[in-house]
Order: sequence, then C-alpha cells, then structure tokens
Amino acid sequence: MSAQPQPPSDSRPHSRPVKRTRRVTAPQITGRKGGEPIVCLTAYDAPTAEIIDPHCDLILVGDSVGMVVHGLPSTVGVTMDMMIMHGQAVMRGSKTAMVVVDLPFGSYEGTPDTAFASASRVMMETSCQAVKIESGSYAAKTIAYLVERGIPVMSHVGLRPQSMHVLGGFRARGRNQKVADEILRNAVAAAEAGSFAVVVEGVSAEIAERVTKAVDIPTIGIGASPNCDGQILVTPDMLGLFDRVPKFVHKFGNMREQIDASVSQYADEVKSRTFPRAENLYVFKD
Ligand code: KIV
Repeated sequence: MSAQPQPPSDSRPHSRPVKRTRRVTAPQITGRKGGEPIVCLTAYDAPTAEIIDPHCDLILVGDSVGMVVHGLPSTVGVTMDMMIMHGQAVMRGSKTAMVVVDLPFGSYEGTPDTAFASASRVMMETSCQAVKIESGSYAAKTIAYLVERGIPVMSHVGLRPQSMHVLGGFRARGRNQKVADEILRNAVAAAEAGSFAVVVEGVSAEIAERVTKAVDIPTIGIGASPNCDGQILVTPDMLGLFDRVPKFVHKFGNMREQIDASVSQYADEVKSRTFPRAENLYVFKD
C-alpha cells in the first residue's frame, strides 16, 4: 500500500456528500477493506452529527468526549451514563452513517459477561449499531463473546488512551520491535475474534502498513499514516476548536478564532446597544 501523503491544497475539489437512504452496516464497512478509504469522525451531539453525517461512513461517539466536551484530563473518568447520553444525541442527529459508541474504561475489561452487559445496555439505550473497545491481549475472548451474541465490535490497538497510566501518557506506540509486534498481535487477534474493523492509533507508517496487510478487516487510522483503509479524527480537533492538538491532526477549520470573533462582536454590540437589531424585534400588533 505505502501511499504517499498528499500535500494539503485548498484548490482540490471538496468531496461531495454521499447519497444514501439507509444506515451503513458493519458488514458494509468490512467489505470496504482495500477499497475506497473509509471516512470516519467523532461526534458527541445531535447538530454536529447532522452536519457530518452525509460526509461520513462511520461516526464514532468516542470516549474522547470526556476530554473535548467535559474537560477531563483523560478518558479514564468517562462513565456509561455519559456515553449513553451522547450516543442518543448522535443517533438523533445522524441519518445514514454507521454509529459506533465507545465502551468506557472499566465497563468491559473484567469478564466477557461484564462486557456483554455493558455493550447490550449501550446498544439498547442508544440504538447505535456497534461498540468499540480498546483491545489489549485479553480482548479476543471478549470480542468473540460479543460478536456471537449479536454485538458488532470495532477494536482499537496501538495507542490506547484508556491505558495511559500504564503506557505513561499519550505517546505514539510501536517505535521498537517488541511493541510493534505486540500491536500486530493484538490487531490480528481482534480481527480473528470477529471485529468488523480496527482503529490503529499513534503508530508509524511502517507498523500501520504491517497491520493493514496482516488483517482482513479495515484498519481505521488516527495518527497512523495513510497506510490504513480509512481515517478518523476527533472532530473538535480537526475543526480547530483547540490551540493545542496532537501532531497527527490537521486543522481543517479555525473554529476557535470564529467563535472568539463572533462572541467579541456580540459583546461589542450588546454594550453599544446595536444588538438586538431591528430585524430581531417583535412588533406589537394590536
Ligand atoms: O475516543 C475517541 O474519540 C477515539 C478515537 C480517537 C479513535 O477512540
């Protein structure tokens, strides 16, 4: 595969929204292995889901919600109730993209039974179509258990943010052979256990290529080079809501500046009494 990154250019034609009438399914995502790259983004609320839905094959209600919406220092403090509430909002806003909800830290690692209780609750209360779990060496048994019981699973290998305390932070993974081999083993095990796709986070282009070649399900890269079958980013990061973003994020927008400029103009107009404007006033009709 070894695709070369394209230099960003504003003159490139923008991708047109996809016309679909039904939601994308897990088997359809799996069927895209080696085909047209799979477009994925995160969402946590209904209006964002509505805007990104026509452009995305898959929307992830990521536990990154804890950091980018709730201001937590990591994803470790995210709860089932938070995931369910945001999952419901994204399902209401989206129409045809496949919606996957992250299982939060502590809700699936213990036993396959615990994972089934958590995953089935998320599926029943949000109507999402699949769950994602961060997949260490322990995960294969759980993935097979969930899939056999009707729950599609997207796995997540490489940098696994829920394990940041063990990994020593949010650093890129697999820069030495031992860790690279472990990431490959985890991805292969997750695929063999029945995952419909695997997120590969924070690894070099070489490892992404090895993983993509080794598994027969799509790899969805985040900080993992173009050598993957699709890409995902945290939407507020790529829209430019934050000053500081990980190295692998390209800011496709400048939302922070836009919010700042709009709010500053609003404050000026309130102070100068130019807002509300004439068109914002209700007229007394007697
Ligand atoms: O929580 C999340 O948003 C994720 C993506 C970064 C893949 O897991």
